[in-house]
Amino acid sequence: MSILSFGGEQRMAIKKDTTGKLFTLLTNNSMYQMKVDDLGFLVHTWFGKRTPIFDYSYLNVGRDRGFSGNPYIAGDNRAYSLDTLPQEFPTYGNGDYRESAVRIRYASGASSCEFRYESAQILEGKYSLPGLPAFYALKEDTADTLVITLKDSTQNVYVHLYYGVLEEKDIITRSVTVENKGESPIYLERIMSTCTDFQFGDFDFISFYGRHAMERLLSRTQVHHGIQSVGSTRGASSHHYNPFVMLAAQGTTETRGECYGFSFLYSGDFLAEAEKDQSGQTRFLMGIHPDNFCYKLDSGEAFHAPEAAMVYSAEGMEAVSHRFHRAIRNNLCRGEYKKARRPVLINNWEGTYFDFTGDKLVEMAEQAKDMGVELFVMDDGWFGKRESDNSGLGDWIVNEKKLGCTLKDLSARIHALGLKFGIWFEPECISEDSDLYRAHPDWAFKVPEKSPVRSRYQLVLDFSRKEVRDHIYNMMCNVLDNAQVEYLKWDFNRSIGDIFTTALPADRQGETAHKYILGLYEFLENLNKRYPGMLIEGCSGGGGRFDAGMLYYTPQIWTSDDTDSIERLKIQYGTSFCYPVSTMGAHVSASPNHQTGRTASLSTRATVAMAGTFGYELDPAKLTEEEKAEVRTQIETFKKYYSLIQDGTYYRLASPYENEEYTVWEFAAEDKSEALLGIVSTKLTANNLFTCIRLRGLDPNAMYRMGDKTYLGAALMEAGLPMPVPETEYQSWNLHLVKES
Ligand code: GLA
Repeated sequence: MSILSFGGEQRMAIKKDTTGKLFTLLTNNSMYQMKVDDLGFLVHTWFGKRTPIFDYSYLNVGRDRGFSGNPYIAGDNRAYSLDTLPQEFPTYGNGDYRESAVRIRYASGASSCEFRYESAQILEGKYSLPGLPAFYALKEDTADTLVITLKDSTQNVYVHLYYGVLEEKDIITRSVTVENKGESPIYLERIMSTCTDFQFGDFDFISFYGRHAMERLLSRTQVHHGIQSVGSTRGASSHHYNPFVMLAAQGTTETRGECYGFSFLYSGDFLAEAEKDQSGQTRFLMGIHPDNFCYKLDSGEAFHAPEAAMVYSAEGMEAVSHRFHRAIRNNLCRGEYKKARRPVLINNWEGTYFDFTGDKLVEMAEQAKDMGVELFVMDDGWFGKRESDNSGLGDWIVNEKKLGCTLKDLSARIHALGLKFGIWFEPECISEDSDLYRAHPDWAFKVPEKSPVRSRYQLVLDFSRKEVRDHIYNMMCNVLDNAQVEYLKWDFNRSIGDIFTTALPADRQGETAHKYILGLYEFLENLNKRYPGMLIEGCSGGGGRFDAGMLYYTPQIWTSDDTDSIERLKIQYGTSFCYPVSTMGAHVSASPNHQTGRTASLSTRATVAMAGTFGYELDPAKLTEEEKAEVRTQIETFKKYYSLIQDGTYYRLASPYENEEYTVWEFAAEDKSEALLGIVSTKLTANNLFTCIRLRGLDPNAMYRMGDKTYLGAALMEAGLPMPVPETEYQSWNLHLVKES
């Protein structure tokens, strides 16, 4: 990345006008604009549809509103108030009483700062962030960076606002660095990575809430006067709220209406909030949750906030999803398995839980291989004293007594069958009943003199400390280096509490939660570098840390501990608003389902798991010969349609929330040459109503063959496809359409 312009020069995706004060960011379908006003404040002027470049600051109509104060430098102008102006980076304590993007406590104890424009740089390429995940540009991308520097009017404190533009991907990213060039320390008490002020509009706040084993349910509520927020203070992004939020004009559907998507590339505490103010403007902020956060910056120190990514669509929610899917697949995920077909796996967890031996695993692998499975994953229970979930975490030493052999032998036996071998770890946690805890009780998060909060009987290791990370890393490498391991499941099975580190003084404790996440990222980065061919699947009790930050290190994440195919319809539907199918771990498990007791056919369980990374999580010995034959066909089907599923465009055709009878989705090839429909009947009724579901992403003028029938693309998209009538509960169909030449 080189500095191209300080003056009038312009990059493809970022334009500066001749006054040098108006900055316009362009993607194929959106435009984002800001301006340095006459007083030196950086005001937001536009985020929406791409139009010819025009100074949108005419929208920022100042009015004298009572009790909205005026900066001193505004002189007699009572119409100029930061309380009503749309801004790029509103600061706390400066007459803007809305939620702020930054709050700094100075050495004096005062928290009022006033950031004004200092300089701007337009750079070629997309910035990256030290130790943090960030979207990156590919050679073919038009990518530029704008850095705007603001300075506090009294202190030597600087804020650098980073804007990254991936023009063709329709993504704009933001990040912020706060730099203390003054002599005294400062305390950063709040730092949001992005702020967007919408001058007008009535929005819905669309977010994804849930719980363990039921993640990312859709919530859509009107943005009202006041503050509406979702977030996490659990130390992980959480099952409970996801760091992806959309603001959609009221009435917006999948294919119509204006919609904005915001994704936070961070796996720890977060806050996403919308505030509708006195004049009907809406402010949206997203960043690290301020509750467990206070960063001390000594003289010369800087803080880099994580990245947030934004997408605008004038064509409904679907286009927001498509843009995120494409960018996450191509510009965020990394490594060999970013594009390579992921092996169809079998995981022994629901098949055996803790009750297995090496022989049992080999027997499972043998039968799985016979059905076409390509990777065998040994889940929890292979190490230390780990016969149940109340002991052993932290002792990453193979339990050879339980396995009846070394890990090297076990992996060799699995490989001899022609399967790859994978293994489960939960590196961040520790059981009190473990040798590691007995040796290093101070390595777990604990508040002095207070008994820690337990969860699943376990505690959390202080990953903000390098010596703790290094010890775990070395133990893991020792395991991985002594066997042939091609896959690793990285689990994390509790929320963090008692955040306190022995490594920092009292006035720096507020840095611990963030330093923990930086430690986690560094660990994952090192692991990826050392084992570049190994596929790492993220997991946190299922989807408790399913966020764009993790996807930078692990290209797939176990979506949920709920493997019930019918519940998964909602879970995978909600997940798909931001995250592509290639990132969603999905397995066929036993029926009746272990979490819900529901019975569903093997075929339906596979239809749903095929809208994910696809694998099995059951004991093959319990399958009948007929079922084994069916599994064989399922795996062949999945492999046949793999590139359509993973690289195709994903459409949510019938929502599990809005359609009582069917949930339907579609994968369409980018060149419109074929499509695959997934249909699940969710309700049996006598004499049911006629349902026609409209397809999308086809060539309207082409004929498509499906079985022995052909249809006009336009007809399938305008009138739709009559849904098959179910004969059994939860019946499902995978229908393939091919364009006729
Ligand atoms: C978590 C994971 C499961 C399984 C168990 C093992 O709950 O989400 O898939 O690995 O831990 O303890």
